[in-house]
Amino acid sequence: GAPVQADISKLRPGQRMTVEWRGRPVWIIRRTPEMIARIQALSPAALADPDSRQPQQPAYAQGKLRSRRPDIGVLVGLCTHFGCSPLYRPEPDAAEPKGDDWPGGFYCPCHSSRFDLAGRVYTNMPAPTNLEVPPYRFLSDAIIEVG
Ligand code: FES
Repeated sequence: GAPVQADISKLRPGQRMTVEWRGRPVWIIRRTPEMIARIQALSPAALADPDSRQPQQPAYAQGKLRSRRPDIGVLVGLCTHFGCSPLYRPEPDAAEPKGDDWPGGFYCPCHSSRFDLAGRVYTNMPAPTNLEVPPYRFLSDAIIEVG
C-alpha cells in the first residue's frame, strides 16, 4: 500500500487522531509533558517489554517513548492479542479500567489488555507484545508520512 500523510497541525495536546494505512487504523497522539512524564515514571517491572526489544519494529520504536519525537506517538491501533480496537484512556482517573494505579494509556475492551501511553503492554496481559509502531517520518513539523 501507498504511504499516507497526516497533518497534525490541529492536533491539540492530549488529543489523538486516526489515519488509515494498509486498511489498518494508525493513531497519532500528541502527548503533553505530563503524559511523557507518566510514561517515563512507569516501573519496568509493570511492563512486559519496557524497552520495546521486540523484533520487527523500527529502531525508533525502542525505548520508553517508542517514537521519533517525545511529544508525538504513532501506533497501529489494533490490540496485539486478537486485533480489537483498544480504547484511548489517557487520564489517570478514567472510569475504566478501574484501579488506583492507572497512569493513562490504552485499554482493550475485548479481554482487558492494558497498554501505556507509548503502547507498551503491561505484564500478565492477554496481549503478547507492545502495540505495533508503523514506519513513519516527519516531512515537516506538521506533516507525518506513514508507510
Ligand atoms: Fe485485546 Fe484480546 S483482543 S485483549
